[in-house]
Amino acid sequence: MSDATPNRRSFVGLITSLLMAAIAFLLAIPAIAYLVGPLRRKTGTTGDGFYEVGPLADIPIGPWRLMSLEMIHEDGWKRTRVRHAVWVRRRGEADRDILVLSSICPHLGCPINWITDQSRFFCPCHGGIFDADGTHTGGPPPRSMDPLEYEVRAGRLWVRWQDFKIGVSQRIPVNV
Ligand code: FES
Repeated sequence: MSDATPNRRSFVGLITSLLMAAIAFLLAIPAIAYLVGPLRRKTGTTGDGFYEVGPLADIPIGPWRLMSLEMIHEDGWKRTRVRHAVWVRRRGEADRDILVLSSICPHLGCPINWITDQSRFFCPCHGGIFDADGTHTGGPPPRSMDPLEYEVRAGRLWVRWQDFKIGVSQRIPVNV
Protein backbone atom coordinates (compact mmCIF):
# COMPACT_ATOMS: atom_id res chain seq x y z
CA MET A 1 0.00 0.00 0.00
CA SER A 2 2.74 2.45 0.85
CA ASP A 3 4.55 1.58 -2.49
CA ALA A 4 1.37 1.90 -4.64
CA THR A 5 0.43 5.43 -3.58
CA PRO A 6 3.47 7.22 -5.08
CA ASN A 7 3.07 5.22 -8.32
CA ARG A 8 -0.62 6.12 -8.55
CA ARG A 9 0.22 9.76 -7.85
CA SER A 10 2.86 9.92 -10.58
CA PHE A 11 0.51 8.18 -13.05
CA VAL A 12 -2.29 10.66 -12.35
CA GLY A 13 0.25 13.48 -12.63
CA LEU A 14 1.41 12.19 -16.01
CA ILE A 15 -2.17 11.92 -17.34
CA THR A 16 -2.93 15.42 -16.08
CA SER A 17 0.18 16.79 -17.79
CA LEU A 18 -0.72 15.08 -21.07
CA LEU A 19 -4.27 16.43 -20.89
CA MET A 20 -3.01 19.95 -20.20
CA ALA A 21 -0.57 19.71 -23.12
CA ALA A 22 -3.36 18.47 -25.43
CA ILE A 23 -5.68 21.32 -24.38
CA ALA A 24 -2.91 23.90 -24.83
CA PHE A 25 -2.18 22.52 -28.32
CA LEU A 26 -5.86 22.63 -29.32
CA LEU A 27 -6.18 26.21 -28.08
CA ALA A 28 -3.06 27.26 -30.00
CA ILE A 29 -4.21 25.94 -33.40
CA PRO A 30 -6.34 28.97 -34.42
CA ALA A 31 -3.59 31.38 -33.38
CA ILE A 32 -0.96 29.46 -35.35
CA ALA A 33 -3.25 29.28 -38.40
CA TYR A 34 -3.84 33.06 -38.18
CA LEU A 35 -0.12 33.79 -38.07
CA VAL A 36 1.03 31.31 -40.68
CA GLY A 37 -1.93 31.48 -43.10
CA PRO A 38 -1.03 34.74 -44.89
CA LEU A 39 2.55 33.58 -45.40
CA ARG A 40 1.36 30.44 -47.16
CA ARG A 41 -1.02 32.31 -49.53
CA LYS A 42 0.39 33.04 -52.97
CA THR A 43 0.70 36.73 -53.83
CA GLY A 44 -1.92 38.02 -56.27
CA THR A 45 -4.09 34.97 -56.47
CA THR A 46 -7.67 34.71 -55.39
CA GLY A 47 -9.67 31.50 -55.75
CA ASP A 48 -9.63 30.14 -59.30
CA GLY A 49 -8.26 33.33 -60.88
CA PHE A 50 -11.60 34.62 -62.19
CA TYR A 51 -12.98 37.97 -61.03
CA GLU A 52 -16.54 39.19 -61.27
CA VAL A 53 -17.13 41.96 -63.78
CA GLY A 54 -20.91 42.39 -63.50
CA PRO A 55 -24.34 41.13 -64.52
CA LEU A 56 -24.64 40.09 -68.15
CA ALA A 57 -27.98 41.91 -68.33
CA ASP A 58 -26.12 45.23 -67.90
CA ILE A 59 -24.11 44.65 -71.07
CA PRO A 60 -26.07 45.51 -74.20
CA ILE A 61 -25.62 43.34 -77.28
CA GLY A 62 -23.54 45.10 -79.93
CA PRO A 63 -21.30 47.89 -78.64
CA TRP A 64 -18.01 47.59 -76.84
CA ARG A 65 -18.25 48.45 -73.19
CA LEU A 66 -15.42 49.34 -70.81
CA MET A 67 -15.81 47.47 -67.54
CA SER A 68 -13.56 46.70 -64.63
CA LEU A 69 -12.66 43.96 -62.24
CA GLU A 70 -11.09 44.29 -58.85
CA MET A 71 -8.27 42.03 -57.74
CA ILE A 72 -7.00 41.66 -54.22
CA HIS A 73 -3.26 41.13 -53.92
CA GLU A 74 -2.23 39.46 -50.71
CA ASP A 75 1.39 39.64 -49.66
CA GLY A 76 1.82 38.27 -46.18
CA TRP A 77 -0.50 40.39 -44.03
CA LYS A 78 -0.69 43.22 -46.58
CA ARG A 79 -3.85 43.41 -48.77
CA THR A 80 -3.99 45.70 -51.80
CA ARG A 81 -6.96 46.28 -54.10
CA VAL A 82 -6.11 46.65 -57.80
CA ARG A 83 -8.61 47.55 -60.54
CA HIS A 84 -8.15 46.45 -64.14
CA ALA A 85 -10.16 47.72 -67.10
CA VAL A 86 -11.41 45.28 -69.72
CA TRP A 87 -13.25 45.81 -73.00
CA VAL A 88 -16.34 43.61 -73.25
CA ARG A 89 -18.60 43.04 -76.24
CA ARG A 90 -21.61 40.78 -76.55
CA ARG A 91 -22.08 39.74 -80.15
CA GLY A 92 -25.26 37.77 -79.44
CA GLU A 93 -27.45 36.24 -76.75
CA ALA A 94 -25.35 33.12 -76.22
CA ASP A 95 -22.69 32.99 -73.52
CA ARG A 96 -20.10 31.97 -76.13
CA ASP A 97 -20.74 35.18 -78.12
CA ILE A 98 -18.75 37.37 -75.77
CA LEU A 99 -15.39 38.93 -76.49
CA VAL A 100 -13.22 40.21 -73.65
CA LEU A 101 -10.03 42.16 -74.37
CA SER A 102 -7.44 43.60 -72.06
CA SER A 103 -7.40 47.41 -72.23
CA ILE A 104 -3.60 47.43 -71.90
CA CYS A 105 -1.78 48.30 -75.12
CA PRO A 106 0.71 45.56 -76.07
CA HIS A 107 3.18 48.23 -77.22
CA LEU A 108 4.13 49.97 -73.96
CA GLY A 109 1.11 49.43 -71.74
CA CYS A 110 -1.06 52.55 -72.20
CA PRO A 111 -4.85 52.23 -71.87
CA ILE A 112 -6.59 51.66 -75.21
CA ASN A 113 -9.72 53.62 -76.13
CA TRP A 114 -12.67 52.67 -78.31
CA ILE A 115 -13.49 55.31 -80.95
CA THR A 116 -17.17 54.80 -81.69
CA ASP A 117 -17.49 56.94 -84.81
CA GLN A 118 -14.47 55.22 -86.40
CA SER A 119 -15.42 51.74 -85.14
CA ARG A 120 -11.91 50.98 -84.02
CA PHE A 121 -9.65 50.94 -80.99
CA PHE A 122 -6.98 53.60 -80.64
CA CYS A 123 -4.05 53.93 -78.29
CA PRO A 124 -3.35 57.65 -77.70
CA CYS A 125 0.26 57.19 -76.55
CA HIS A 126 1.89 56.39 -79.90
CA GLY A 127 -1.03 56.04 -82.29
CA GLY A 128 -1.66 52.28 -82.13
CA ILE A 129 -4.74 51.26 -84.12
CA PHE A 130 -6.81 48.07 -83.78
CA ASP A 131 -9.96 47.11 -85.65
CA ALA A 132 -13.33 46.39 -84.04
CA ASP A 133 -12.19 42.89 -83.01
CA GLY A 134 -8.95 44.12 -81.46
CA THR A 135 -6.77 43.07 -84.39
CA HIS A 136 -3.72 45.29 -84.89
CA THR A 137 -4.04 47.39 -88.06
CA GLY A 138 -1.60 50.25 -87.60
CA GLY A 139 0.99 52.01 -85.47
CA PRO A 140 3.80 50.59 -83.34
CA PRO A 141 2.04 47.87 -81.27
CA PRO A 142 3.72 44.56 -82.15
CA ARG A 143 0.55 42.44 -81.83
CA SER A 144 -3.23 42.59 -81.54
CA MET A 145 -5.06 43.35 -78.31
CA ASP A 146 -4.90 40.56 -75.74
CA PRO A 147 -8.06 38.43 -75.33
CA LEU A 148 -8.97 37.29 -71.83
CA GLU A 149 -10.72 34.12 -70.68
CA TYR A 150 -14.22 34.50 -69.31
CA GLU A 151 -17.08 32.50 -67.86
CA VAL A 152 -20.73 33.24 -67.29
CA ARG A 153 -21.82 32.12 -63.84
CA ALA A 154 -25.44 32.54 -62.77
CA GLY A 155 -25.99 35.37 -65.25
CA ARG A 156 -22.84 37.26 -64.27
CA LEU A 157 -19.64 37.75 -66.23
CA TRP A 158 -16.40 36.55 -64.67
CA VAL A 159 -13.02 37.25 -66.26
CA ARG A 160 -9.64 35.69 -65.61
CA TRP A 161 -7.21 38.61 -65.52
CA GLN A 162 -3.84 38.02 -67.14
CA ASP A 163 -0.91 40.35 -67.73
CA PHE A 164 1.11 39.81 -70.89
CA LYS A 165 4.61 40.86 -71.80
CA ILE A 166 4.51 44.20 -73.59
CA GLY A 167 6.61 45.23 -76.59
CA VAL A 168 6.86 41.76 -78.14
CA SER A 169 4.94 40.11 -80.97
CA GLN A 170 4.23 36.87 -79.10
CA ARG A 171 1.56 36.78 -76.41
CA ILE A 172 3.56 35.77 -73.34
CA PRO A 173 1.70 35.59 -69.99
CA VAL A 174 3.55 37.15 -67.07
CA ASN A 175 2.85 37.05 -63.36
CA VAL A 176 3.10 40.32 -61.48
FE1 FES B 1 0.01 52.03 -77.23
FE2 FES B 1 2.47 52.82 -77.67
S1 FES B 1 1.60 52.30 -75.79
S2 FES B 1 0.88 52.63 -79.10
